[in-house]
Amino acid sequence: MTTYRIAVIPGDGIGKDVVEAALIPVRAAASKHGIHLIETTFDWSCDTYLQTGKMMPDDGIESLRKFDSILLGAVGWPERVPDSVSLHGLLLPIRKQFDLFVNMRPHRVLPGIASPLVKSDFDILCIRENTEGEYSGAGGRIHVGTPHEVATETSIFTRRSVERIIRYGFEQARRRRGRLASVTKSNAQKYSMVFWDEVTEELSAEYPDIEVKRYHVDAIAARMITHPETLDVVVASNLFGDILTDIGAAIQGGLGFAASANLNPAGGVPSMFEPVHGSAPDIAGRGIANPIATIWCGALMLEHLGETAAAENLMSAISRVTPKTQLLTPDCGGSAKTLALAHRIADHL
Ligand code: NAI
Ligand code: MG
Repeated sequence: MTTYRIAVIPGDGIGKDVVEAALIPVRAAASKHGIHLIETTFDWSCDTYLQTGKMMPDDGIESLRKFDSILLGAVGWPERVPDSVSLHGLLLPIRKQFDLFVNMRPHRVLPGIASPLVKSDFDILCIRENTEGEYSGAGGRIHVGTPHEVATETSIFTRRSVERIIRYGFEQARRRRGRLASVTKSNAQKYSMVFWDEVTEELSAEYPDIEVKRYHVDAIAARMITHPETLDVVVASNLFGDILTDIGAAIQGGLGFAASANLNPAGGVPSMFEPVHGSAPDIAGRGIANPIATIWCGALMLEHLGETAAAENLMSAISRVTPKTQLLTPDCGGSAKTLALAHRIADHL
């Protein structure tokens, strides 16, 4: 029996609900395929911050390092802890310290789920750069509070990071339908984005079998709504990928379905799997959050661990339940509770 050590961080709000629920079918899929998941739960959250002044202990990153994967719910409770504190105290350090430079988000409509689009026969894989770019954190403010206040926020694009994320995009395109859309805004941003275009061009010589198209971010945002079926793999910078994947979530039926994987493809550190949605304070504690995004994260985790059969089995169990609206949570028109839906999916394994 293969064993994997999983660090579980439920976090805040519905993060707790969806992680508890998702683990039911994830464990079932694992055990069905002879996989043993050894889970260790960390209660790091905004509560931890209010009690200790820190989102996670000083040795938090070192404690996580020995795990094979991290499954995270959601972090944030803006009424009590500013989002800038909770995000910078937990999620971002994990992404940066483990150099999880790929943020991968699949967007497709599961059977029976209503997309706001008429044409919903798309299957898009967004690859977002996850460590630098517009979110590098380089900048500052001077003359604060005066009429001549200045704020700067500098985007950082290094050859190492741009090259490795675009290369990852090419590799994924090769495993899928052979098409890569590279997203920039090189008409307006003449340094960083022209550089990105040049790296795409250089790498395309190594991937003659991949059809590469360059899009400006505004144009591809519109395309994801009008012609999503024309897109396969989309590779974008941190900010552009962040925005485009919210469109992806919307067209796939909502945040309840949007899964994401933060990966370091080189291995040696744990990759982290988390739904795109946040802690949803408006529905937290009511047991009605949709757990499907987090279950899908579990499938991405199993796949990343090399357990393809278990991952496929889990995805097909989800797809067998989604056509039955009454078994789904209220965001999809059903009346089921979070845990009940998770159990129904586990029943279909
Ligand atoms: P949100 O994603 O938590 O909620 C947005 C809307 O979608 C809400 O109406 C919510 O009820 C609904 N929703 C989200 N997930 C759902 C699910 N699984 N099932 C049913 N409905 C769902 O975004 P919001 O309200 O902007 O942020 C709340 C907190 O979460 C903030 O502190 C924010 O910083 C944090 N956040 C954390 C993220 C993370 O940990 N990766 C990502 C996004 C936000
Ligand atoms: Mg976002």
